[in-house]
Amino acid sequence: MSEEFAGTSSVLNLEPKYGDQPGYERFWRQFKRYSMRDKVIASLGVLRRLLRWYQFDSKELFIVERKVQVLKWRGGRIEVGRGTRLAMGSKIVCGGHLSIGPRVVVGPNTIIMCNTKMRIGARCMISWNCSIFDSIGHRLWLENTGEVEIEAPITIGNDVWIGPYSIVMKGVTIGDNCVIGAGSVVRRDVPPNSLVYGNPARMAGKVVKWER
Ligand SMILES: CC(C)(COP(=O)(O)OP(=O)(O)OC[C@H]1O[C@@H](n2cnc3c(N)ncnc32)[C@H](O)[C@@H]1OP(=O)(O)O)[C@@H](O)C(=O)NCCC(=O)NCCS
Repeated sequence: MSEEFAGTSSVLNLEPKYGDQPGYERFWRQFKRYSMRDKVIASLGVLRRLLRWYQFDSKELFIVERKVQVLKWRGGRIEVGRGTRLAMGSKIVCGGHLSIGPRVVVGPNTIIMCNTKMRIGARCMISWNCSIFDSIGHRLWLENTGEVEIEAPITIGNDVWIGPYSIVMKGVTIGDNCVIGAGSVVRRDVPPNSLVYGNPARMAGKVVKWER
């Protein structure tokens, strides 16, 4: 974990847990069990990652599938943990500091835009077609409140499952072990172990546990 993100939140337990960092030994054990087709797909993913090493600031082994777009600007930094999968068609635009933990899945066509600081904890599953962005992108003035805050960091805890077509907006902190229902728009902080859904996302229950 990067030093900058260590201990940023007293609400979240962001310290790595046992099993966050699967060893290469474990990777090989799993790899040997794959079918030949899956072995080829996984090898291509690793090869693609190796060919694109210059786009990332961490040297861990993770999978970058086909058509993944990574755009860095303004000296952006992208750290990705071991065993994470950036699925086909996902897109990362980074002009800040993005840290994605180990064993995370970023689903197909999901877009992550980071202009400030964004931390996605370990073992999160972000489904397909989600958008996570910490900036509204354009300056905006309103009659009553004046200029709107343009950007604010996002923190997503460990073991968070975000359903398809969900949107997580600037300044939001989602606690550990939360489930965000499909099609939710998350604009306010979500306490740990919560089930939320809807637009705007509202508390709908307490999560005991969920399985990958
Ligand atoms: C999180 C989730 C599983 C919760 O399901 P649940 O607890 O079984 O909820 P229910 O289906 O019993 O619905 C309870 C109520 O919440 C509403 N609701 C459930 N999910 C909702 C959602 N994502 N958005 C808005 N309302 C939702 C239902 O309409 C229902 O309302 P009602 O009581 O007025 O009829 C569900 O919201 C969800 O997102 N499912 C999709 C999971 C998915 O997409 N998986 C793909 C793999 S990543």
